[in-house]
Amino acid sequence: MNFELKSIGLVAASTEKADALIVLVAQDFKAAKDDLSDLVAQAIKAADLETKPGKLLSLYRPVQANATRVVLAGIGGGSARDVRTAVLAAAASLKSPSLKKLMVCFATPAREDAVRAVVTAVADATYSYTHTKSKPEPRALTKVLVATSNATEVQESFDRAVAITVGAELAREWANRPANHATPALLGKAAEELAKLPKISCEVMGPKEVAKLGMGAFMAVAQGSDQPLRFIVLRYNGAPKSQAPIVLVGKGITFDCGGISIKPAPEMDEMKFDMSGAASVLGTFRSLAILKPAINVVGLIAACENLINGQAVKPGDVVTSMSGQTIEILNTDAEGRLVLCDALTYAERFKPAAVVDIATLTGACVIALGGVRSGLYASQDALGGALFAAGEAAQDLCWRMPLDEEYAEGLKTNFADVANVAGRAGGSITAAKFLQRFTEKFPWAHLDIAGTAWKSGTAKGATGRPVGLLVEYLIGEARNA
Ligand code: BES
Ligand code: MN
Ligand code: ZN
Repeated sequence: MNFELKSIGLVAASTEKADALIVLVAQDFKAAKDDLSDLVAQAIKAADLETKPGKLLSLYRPVQANATRVVLAGIGGGSARDVRTAVLAAAASLKSPSLKKLMVCFATPAREDAVRAVVTAVADATYSYTHTKSKPEPRALTKVLVATSNATEVQESFDRAVAITVGAELAREWANRPANHATPALLGKAAEELAKLPKISCEVMGPKEVAKLGMGAFMAVAQGSDQPLRFIVLRYNGAPKSQAPIVLVGKGITFDCGGISIKPAPEMDEMKFDMSGAASVLGTFRSLAILKPAINVVGLIAACENLINGQAVKPGDVVTSMSGQTIEILNTDAEGRLVLCDALTYAERFKPAAVVDIATLTGACVIALGGVRSGLYASQDALGGALFAAGEAAQDLCWRMPLDEEYAEGLKTNFADVANVAGRAGGSITAAKFLQRFTEKFPWAHLDIAGTAWKSGTAKGATGRPVGLLVEYLIGEARNA
């Protein structure tokens, strides 16, 4: 799918040939002299078109336009949220295999965030999962023209949004693939594939190398599965070597049955998404290869299954992490923090400017924040603030959570330096407190994306989040460097 931004208003847009034209009509719309805007004005006057976001009026081969189908879509005040609502509704109403070329036109000059919303909403609405279908129905849409009279003002935002959709779609794709089609080895291959792109290189380690590194916590999780683990090190080199990198660490549990502390059967299939953090790292690197910011980024992915064979780790087992800290595994279902803690220790060797881990870590975070905002934890306010702001700008929202020392109380145990679980209370926070023990050597942030990385129910599937947030943050850091 190819996106293009055109600096034209409604008049020129109406003469463009397309399978469909979506006209975005804000509440302050004023008709110009042309036929199409006159039609819009008449429809508003007759109350056949409401400018509330989500309200549509569909037309077929109207003489006022050169597109086959035209949808007038209200965008209210024109905020990013309003525009997203409008475009999702319009795209749903246009869904058809004949929709190959789409034009989306702002009837009044667009805001930057609104342009971004058009790009991401069109991409989201037309994504089609095909990998394991015998009769794939791939996305028919090949060309999307976005028209606004002030294109030069919004070009940079537009380009960034396009790059983000490519990355988010890669993340979405890998997260959607079932565990037998997205093994740790296959994730390693996907990373190697990315290393063919400009400025990216990659190293993939297996069980032998990881044992040599002393990643006892990561290995403890992997030992319950017959699929060998992978530890993936991606590098994006956009700045001189002397510049400290930002390290992204992704949880890559390709399937989480809970281990011996087994999960209930209903919805257990959704635990194929438990590598969404890893997928977001892959997706972010995909976007970086397009945008080429002047920054260095390292991506670390700890990938394995959390399963139950005869070697599986047992509740009460004590393992030694790469940091030297011993961990009592009281609940084998709290495996994400076990693979992440060793990856965080490994991150030390890069002398990073900051480390951000991304993980579908806790059901408690789903309870706390639902599917709207990811949980954000940060050891430093500057880093927390930058990530929060990036989420707002990219419309990939998060919310800051606390890290008071009192929350670590429940992790104390008589049999090791730390236990891998505390009580039920504040479960997302206690998980973050566990991770924080392994982050003393660098500014650190943690995104708990358990609620935001995928949707359940009829719309079941991955969202590609938080690629938008991560890319926006990295671009901002490149600017500040
Ligand atoms: N992958 C899960 C977290 C999860 C749960 C994500 C539901 C999305 C939806 C994680 O490995 C896990 O099982 N966490 C446990 C931790 C508990 C044992 C302390 C949880 O949240 O129940
Ligand atoms: Mn688990
Ligand atoms: Zn998990």
